[in-house]
Order: sequence, then structure tokens, then C-alpha cells
Amino acid sequence: MEPVDAQTMRQIDLKAQETFGIPELLLMENAGRETAQVILEILNGKKGTVAFFCGKGNNGGDGFVAARHLFLQGRPVALFFIGEETRLKGSAKINFGILKRFRCPLYTLPQGSLLEETLSRTAPLIMGVDALLGIGLKGEVQEPYRSAIECINRLSCPILAVDIPSGLCATTGKVLGCSVKASQTVTFGLPKKGFYVGEGPQRTGKVIVRNIGYPQELL
Ligand SMILES: NC(=O)c1ccc[n+]([C@@H]2O[C@H](COP(=O)([O-])OP(=O)(O)OC[C@H]3O[C@@H](n4cnc5c(N)ncnc54)[C@H](OP(=O)(O)O)[C@@H]3O)[C@@H](O)[C@H]2O)c1
Repeated sequence: MEPVDAQTMRQIDLKAQETFGIPELLLMENAGRETAQVILEILNGKKGTVAFFCGKGNNGGDGFVAARHLFLQGRPVALFFIGEETRLKGSAKINFGILKRFRCPLYTLPQGSLLEETLSRTAPLIMGVDALLGIGLKGEVQEPYRSAIECINRLSCPILAVDIPSGLCATTGKVLGCSVKASQTVTFGLPKKGFYVGEGPQRTGKVIVRNIGYPQELL
């Protein structure tokens, strides 16, 4: 599999939607369910709370779906939404609404700096899932994500990054101000160029590639 830059991956995603008629919501569902599957494989029967750290874009949306699937299976989860709920839109907003109605343990933190203290009041974690920022990251990481990333990097449990570690440039492998240091990364469609250059290899951990319904001819 040939690694791609962020722009090429976005084009593949767009073509899947526009040429093949696959709705964004369906791609997000597949991405979240694949992520949940990978989490269960990594945990391999180990019990404990999995924390999801989600942003307001579609990367966060993948995290909402993954949390729902683990919750549905009776696994203890805690979801930390970093940002303002009013800024959610599209498929991510829909999935956030579903999660709320499921009564999944959910914390909305408008400031990333609130994460550390909130985590200290929740059960010990066996895994953290980073779904703050994906390939839609532009420029240096800003608040509220910066503080949240610093907090995630202080956790002692393994971290699984969704699609790409937050803060890493998918194209150049540069850390854009700060970045999650993941133990593993589950990435969708194709691996990203930035995983193999610059600081990428130190940030992604083991890379797991999953198809989320993209037609083979697009990949
Ligand atoms: N079709 C799908 O549903 C589908 C398919 C495959 C994968 N995905 C997932 O979606 C991701 C891409 O989703 P996306 O395009 O919505 O982008 P994203 O990676 O979720 O990032 C976009 C969000 O990050 C914010 N942001 C961008 N640059 C920032 C910075 N420097 N500092 C702080 N915040 C920043 C944006 O805020 P502003 O808008 O305010 O700038 C926006 O809320 C992929 O990585 C993958 O995880 C989705």
C-alpha cells in the first residue's frame, strides 16, 4: 500500500461520496466500528475503562461512533469532548446526539486544561483513544486541543490514535506545535505519508490500516 498525503486522502474520501454515493455518515460509522474492533483486539479480554478524547470535526465523530460500539458491548467507557457543543456539525453532530441519548458517560470540556482534573475523578484507564484532530488539521495546534494533547501524553495507559496522532502533519510528518505520542494508530483507507517521515515514526507507534468502505479502485 502506497502512503498518501492529506490532500490525496481527502480526494479519495470525496470521490467515495460523490462518485460512489457513499454517505459521509456511513463512512464515519464504518471508521468508528473498525476502531472499536481494533480496541477490542488490542485489549484482548483485558477489563477496564477506555477513555475517548474527541474534537469537533469528523475525527472526533469517528471517536463518538467507536465509543458507542464499545458502550453497546457493555464495556466501561468515558468520553471527553473537548470544545463547544454548539460548534459541532454534520455527521459528527448527529453521532454526538446519538451518544447522548444512549446515556454514554460524557464530559464536555470547553477548555483542554480541564481534562487533567476531570480525569482524576474518573476510574483508572486501561486505554486512551485520541480522536481530537485528524487529517483536517491546519497549522499549529491551537487551544483547546493543545492542553488536551499535553494531558493525554502524561497518561500512563497506552494510547490508540484514530486515523493519525493529533498534531502530526499527515503529509510532512512534522509535529505542528505539539502532538499525541500514540502506542498504535488505526488509519483509514491508506497509510499517510507523514507516518514514515520527520517525527511520524516516533508518534504513530504501530500502524494498523483498515478499509472503511472505500472502493478498491479508489485505493
Ligand atoms: N467521510 C468521513 O466521514 C470520514 C472518512 C474517513 C475518515 N474520517 C475522519 O475524519 C477526519 C478528517 O475530518 P475533518 O476533515 O472534519 O477534520 P478533522 O481532522 O476532524 O479536523 C477538523 C477540526 O479541527 C479543527 N482544527 C483544524 N486545525 C486546527 C488547529 N491548528 N488547531 C485547532 N483546531 C484545528 C477544525 O476547526 P475549524 O473548523 O474551526 O477550523 C475542525 O473542527 C479523518 O482524519 C478521519 O479521522 C472521516
